[in-house]
Amino acid sequence: MTAISHEAALKRAEERRLAEAAKTALTPSRQKYHFMPQQGWMNDPNGLIYFRGQYHFFYQYNPYGAFWDAMHWGHAVSDDLLHWRYLPVALAPSEPYDDHPKGGCFSGSAIEHEGKLYLLYTGSTDEGHGTVQAQCLAVSEDGVHFIKAAENPVITAPEPYSHEAFRDPKLLRHNGLFYAVCGHGEGGRGRALLFSSPDLRRWRFVNVLAQSRGEWGGMWECPDLFPLGERYVLTFSPMNAGDRKAVYFVGDMDWERGVFEPQTQGELDWGFDFYAAQTFADAQGRRVMAAWANEWQWMPWFKGWGPTWRDGWCGFLNALREVRLNEDNTLSLSPVRELQALRTAAMTLTPLLDGDRVAVFETPDPMAFDIDACVDLEKTTAERIVFHLRQGEGRETLITLDLRRGRLTMNRDNADAYSEGELSCPLPLKGASRLPLRILSDVCSVETFALDGRVCMSGNIYAGAAQNRHSVEAVGGAVVWESFAAWGM
Ligand code: FRU
Repeated sequence: MTAISHEAALKRAEERRLAEAAKTALTPSRQKYHFMPQQGWMNDPNGLIYFRGQYHFFYQYNPYGAFWDAMHWGHAVSDDLLHWRYLPVALAPSEPYDDHPKGGCFSGSAIEHEGKLYLLYTGSTDEGHGTVQAQCLAVSEDGVHFIKAAENPVITAPEPYSHEAFRDPKLLRHNGLFYAVCGHGEGGRGRALLFSSPDLRRWRFVNVLAQSRGEWGGMWECPDLFPLGERYVLTFSPMNAGDRKAVYFVGDMDWERGVFEPQTQGELDWGFDFYAAQTFADAQGRRVMAAWANEWQWMPWFKGWGPTWRDGWCGFLNALREVRLNEDNTLSLSPVRELQALRTAAMTLTPLLDGDRVAVFETPDPMAFDIDACVDLEKTTAERIVFHLRQGEGRETLITLDLRRGRLTMNRDNADAYSEGELSCPLPLKGASRLPLRILSDVCSVETFALDGRVCMSGNIYAGAAQNRHSVEAVGGAVVWESFAAWGM
């Protein structure tokens, strides 16, 4: 097949995108300030890059329906990480190596080279002998139209590794060479494989970057490797690793051998909906992370992708997070500061919430809001603080901070007619005199950031316009707020 057929596949996808976009744009289920597709289905963020003065985001995309199917790459640009302009579909399945109904142009990443924008993605196909995944290149002169390279696939699975679960290349540069970190899984063991290239076209297998004995899942999806401060960070989404679905390791890179040496480990987000994270560095030198706010069928709490398919769309990204390295080699993820520009009128709470009392608060927009608060732990005597969010008609979503046991819990059993589940994680308060807290709510999501982003928990809910009240409860004592403000968004 030739590039013409790619053009034809793109044209067809474009027609569908444009035909449905206006209708889907009006549905009330849409997120207000989280990145999402115009219509159709999206999953992983792909090819995030700051290129020629703009943020370019690509994403796993099916323009033909609100469910996962043959994967395309959607594309949008932004000047400020808040307002997005959708661009033509960037990649569509069209070649023998990426054209399959249950395959397509799978996840990957972007890099700038000699003024051009390069995408490295996984071509996933099946010619009748099982899944074959290999890494493929596409190039753009203008940052909008992409041509698949004639050499494709440019990276195939090296002996003795299987080509069945070999995907999601993440590009980076080091010492004048390009590197690609690819996810791999075989025999119940997930790993990341490292490749190098002088020109993005000719690749050499370097080494197994990292692997485990299976305790970190059977396949590492969407690995990312990036420098942060003096260290390197490896992140990935392990398949079938119990409650784990987005993890990080902080350590050092041995570039001689092509091996990552991990030292500390943690969860990027402890919630239900945070997967396939990818980072990029922007012009300000920040490391920004995006992730898909949804779940796959094999996750323990999976119960469908939510009801928004009825409105012709499904999938969005979590709030973008800036990644910071703490002194103890753990990570903190905080919502990017750009989000503050969306805040409308604030509502503040009085500093003291007496024991066993509930304070009701309103936000200018009852669904899309931003709470920024801080608990004075020295003066607070409460055992627990419970946020009752999106209340109405007997429904509510609960975020509980257990100060005595040091735990954060999200319960969405009664959030709406659809969601369910409770997840809980450690909230390390020992020695802390204050507990900074941020809660971002949008039409279909609640994201909690505790201790300046050391502990994050994200979950989707599908509460409606009737769930428009909020309160916070002090249990077993009084809560003293150092500050408490809630803004509409
Ligand atoms: C992760 C993932 C990737 C794959 C893509 C397919 O969510 O399974 O491993 O490339 O989604 O859409």
